[in-house]
Amino acid sequence: MSSQPPHPALLIPGPIEFDDAVLQAMSHYSESHVGMPFVNTFGETLSMLRKLFQTSDPKSQGFVISGSGTLGWDQVAANLVEPGDEVLVLHTGYFADSFADCFETYGIKPTQLKAPIGERPQQNEVEEALKARQYKLITITHTDTSTGVLSEIESIAQLVHRVSPDTLIVVDGVCSVGCEEIRFDDWGIDCVITASQKAIGCPAGLSIVMTSGRALDRFKARTKPPGSYFASWKNWLPIMQNYEARKPSYFATPSPQLVHALHTSLTQILSRPLEERFQKHKEASQKIKKAIADMGLKQLASKPENQANGMTAIYLPEGMSPPEILPTLMKKGVIFAGGLHKQIAAKYVRFGHMGVSVTDPKRDDIDRAIKALKEGLEEVGYKAPNGST
Ligand SMILES: Cc1ncc(COP(=O)(O)O)c(C=O)c1O
Repeated sequence: MSSQPPHPALLIPGPIEFDDAVLQAMSHYSESHVGMPFVNTFGETLSMLRKLFQTSDPKSQGFVISGSGTLGWDQVAANLVEPGDEVLVLHTGYFADSFADCFETYGIKPTQLKAPIGERPQQNEVEEALKARQYKLITITHTDTSTGVLSEIESIAQLVHRVSPDTLIVVDGVCSVGCEEIRFDDWGIDCVITASQKAIGCPAGLSIVMTSGRALDRFKARTKPPGSYFASWKNWLPIMQNYEARKPSYFATPSPQLVHALHTSLTQILSRPLEERFQKHKEASQKIKKAIADMGLKQLASKPENQANGMTAIYLPEGMSPPEILPTLMKKGVIFAGGLHKQIAAKYVRFGHMGVSVTDPKRDDIDRAIKALKEGLEEVGYKAPNGST
């Protein structure tokens, strides 16, 4: 039995449902952020991140900074590039537009390579773009949370290494780290940004980043200091290195309670093989996607290879909008999110299936959500086409 009061299952693409132990970790008594007990907890958390990202290269470095996923964009734009630099942003939805906007804020010049809604830029298009101009870095949104489109990181990384080896590879993994495989060293990635509140299963409030030695060398070779104070690795890099070496250190006060929660969620995640976790997310995702197809509904990401495993973006029946169905689902005990992609926001809903809702065998969130969606749609007047259940 959960110690949490009864509540509708939060099945939006982040924040997600929490495990009791993660929540309880936050009620840790107050302690000094430079006292050894907390320094040890923070240090262990940073070491565990290396396992989550599958990096054993000692030159890699993790960062855990108070903030949300957005702070990861600021860290990339402030530290890895300089004003006037050109960057290539692969666009699979809303979050690429925001990343590009963040680059512009720092005087960086983003070029977006766009695909039709529900698709992703093709390899030949990426290759052409990389050959047309020398980009300092490329960004790939692993799962775009507005469309549920999954990008293929390994093959794009191979392409970048072949065609434009000096271009740093940056992955926005806010909606993928913890539910989609990322092999940081094997795939030769330079930076992954993520946040605490999605597949990592921790409350919102932490910006989590992994960087390669190559990215840090690029940062150290900057001609001008970063154009941000709080997001500057000049300030944070020694702090993270010190914490990981179990040495007290201070630049800006961390949140000990959130770090305790992250320590607990990472300990849980790493207590089982990561492959098993990714497989469970795949299986749950396939079950949901099949149920949706059986209801006669379509996804924004129509091709199976483009479909994320931690969420599904579902077109509503013609003429129906999110405010007609979301309250009905809420009454049935599940919370989905409305659409986010500007051009079609009124036409679809998003179902997040990450973390304990998928991995905890004691929970039936996914089955309840499928049932609620089917019954809820019928209640608001939808009749599935013949043959659909
Ligand atoms: C892919 C992606 N990138 C970045 C962000 C921004 O993260 P945050 O809302 O935690 O600032 C989000 C948020 O949902 C996201 O889904």
